[in-house]
Amino acid sequence: MAIEWCEADQVFHLFNGNISYLIQLVHGKYPAHLYWGKRVRFLQPSAILAFKGRAFSPTTEPEDPKFSLDTLPQEYPAYGNGDFREPAYQLRTHDGSTITEFVYDSHEIRKGKPSLKGLPSSYIEDDSEAETLVITMVDSKLGIGLNLMYTIYRDLDVITRSVSFEHLGSHTVEIHKCMSMSVDFHQSDWDWLHLHGTWARERHIERRPLHHGIQSISSARGASSHQHNPFVALLSKNTTEEYGDVYGVSLVYSGNFQASIEVDPFETTRLSIGINPFEFIWQLNPGETFQTPETLMVYSSEGLGGMSRTFHKLLRTRVCRGVYRNQSRPILINNWEATYFNFNEKKLKDIADAAKGLGMELFVLDDGWFGRRDNDKSSLGDWVVNKKKLPHGLAGLADYVEKKGMKFGVWVEPEMVSPDSDLYRRHPDWCLHVPGRSRTLSRNQLVLDLGRREVCDFLLETMTSIFTSAPISYVKWDMNRNMTEAGSAALPPERQKETAHRYMLGLYWILRKLTERFPQILFESCSGGGGRFDPGMLYYMPQTWTSDDTDAVERLKIQYGTSIVYPAITMGAHVSDVPNHQTGRMTPLQMRCHVAMAANLGFELNVDKLGSKDKTVVHDQISLYHQIKEIVLFGDLYRLLNPFVGMDTAWMYVKPNRNQAVVFYYKILAMPNPPFFRLKLRGLNPNFKYKINSGEQLYYGSELMQIGLAMPLIKKDYTSFIFQIEAIRC
Ligand code: DGJ
Repeated sequence: MAIEWCEADQVFHLFNGNISYLIQLVHGKYPAHLYWGKRVRFLQPSAILAFKGRAFSPTTEPEDPKFSLDTLPQEYPAYGNGDFREPAYQLRTHDGSTITEFVYDSHEIRKGKPSLKGLPSSYIEDDSEAETLVITMVDSKLGIGLNLMYTIYRDLDVITRSVSFEHLGSHTVEIHKCMSMSVDFHQSDWDWLHLHGTWARERHIERRPLHHGIQSISSARGASSHQHNPFVALLSKNTTEEYGDVYGVSLVYSGNFQASIEVDPFETTRLSIGINPFEFIWQLNPGETFQTPETLMVYSSEGLGGMSRTFHKLLRTRVCRGVYRNQSRPILINNWEATYFNFNEKKLKDIADAAKGLGMELFVLDDGWFGRRDNDKSSLGDWVVNKKKLPHGLAGLADYVEKKGMKFGVWVEPEMVSPDSDLYRRHPDWCLHVPGRSRTLSRNQLVLDLGRREVCDFLLETMTSIFTSAPISYVKWDMNRNMTEAGSAALPPERQKETAHRYMLGLYWILRKLTERFPQILFESCSGGGGRFDPGMLYYMPQTWTSDDTDAVERLKIQYGTSIVYPAITMGAHVSDVPNHQTGRMTPLQMRCHVAMAANLGFELNVDKLGSKDKTVVHDQISLYHQIKEIVLFGDLYRLLNPFVGMDTAWMYVKPNRNQAVVFYYKILAMPNPPFFRLKLRGLNPNFKYKINSGEQLYYGSELMQIGLAMPLIKKDYTSFIFQIEAIRC
């Protein structure tokens, strides 16, 4: 891996064993995009760009009539002096203009990868893992520097990018737009793929051909959102799970974002992602720096599956942190769907007793344990144990659970306040609001203003006292509404549009402090399920509650879609009761277990009320999970059958040494008189001999991958199988 600067050609080459990224400095001023993809060797990279004067494309360099910013593939384009496409950034200067002229000033190539101040980002553990290029562009009239930062990893086909604006001039400017990256590809015959949804239906896959003009996804909800994940991919038309060029970009940010793709008349495709410029204006004073979030950029020549596996490894090993990064997680029992708000100590103890008997390892007390919280209408902000429900406090219950040999975890929703709470009565200005305007409620609650330091200090100390009040090993950090009236009482009028980003910086500050103070706690983030499932949250909390929808059939789509970017170890998945609370569907307990076992397994039902047959199923599935969990959580994922396409879903996980694999096969609705079906496996070693579920028969890996594994004929809806595949030593 290296980053080379070729002075003669004025070209930067970022490369590792598999990928190349090429930037050319044109006219000594403009960083132009040459190439990103499979590793290339070249003799004359500066010949890649072709120029032609085109009508209505302004000539920025008078002595070179063929040159125009309007047609130049660029690395970080501006609007206003020749390029009419979507700009990557826009500043408004003190004289009211948005015209800027940032041109190349200098560059620096260094070992390693710096972290970003106040923001989560991917990291390295040793300087030899990555190299970083910083290209500095300067607008000399404004006295502002713009640093384009690129890092290439040695062992991952990943480039990361971010941008910082450094103000060394003398007048305040407003940043109206500052994307984290922008790339101009030299072609447009692509599909684009993104993950969309809503509450209980997160991260469904949508793939569409690109059209001329702008297509985009975004969130203006103050969270990355259930509606759109901060991720988008460009795919060559022939792309499948195994084949095709794929370019995926994922933003390490949990707030408002925008990803935009513009195809111009000359078939250039401009892809950018960053903070949503809608409702964002940042005042940058002389002496200050503004840092954008980071983008993770993955190229794969091995289709969607290849891209996902790279994202999985990156997120699992170089975004997630902490003691749980390399550990499988305890099998949990959560009381939410078992009791909702209606519980007392006895009920909880009964659940814990039964859970322990079935092999569960962690008891999680969900919403309703504090203040007067008997429904969702009050008490957020009043983090004091409700002694009517828990006469011995959190510590009493936690001690009971611990004595049984289980761990104890607790639910919190710190970012919110109920209007019916002592906190709100004491500090009515601590929530996001606009003076003199209504404060719109959602789930009967308001959002605290985390851009205010005193609010963050309060939350840090309040959470610290809860987490030290009992032996707490796990925290579910929930967030159940999006922002409205996103204004701050602590900011002057000209800074109101900074509120949403300042909120994210405040949240990240709290999470940094808490994870430093409580390194032994396993944190799981949640936002009404998966409303904030993004790399930014994963940096602090290594798993996310994937969805409030625990229906086994719906979960196939949700987990399949989520796996496009996120590895199994980041997904919380629970077995719940039937009829399912979200869909009313009845599915067998075994299938519900098999779906949840493809991630971090948990349970969320009245296990103490299960009949003896069901108890046996749960017990057996938990022992099976112990056998397969290392492969599921740390293995490579191969998606085999797509739930968005037919009635069958299948995926498999393979250990990196290919000695072991586990295949999950689910039949949603059975078919009368069905054909024979062989499931073609992937990722095995073609020359290894494997046995299936400890049977006698041996199969070559090539046989299982080319000819396939015969699936049973199925005469029952909602049927599922797990196959354990093991190589035998000859
Ligand atoms: C939303 C979460 O997604 C649920 O699992 C549960 O914790 C509720 N909030 C509690 O209010």
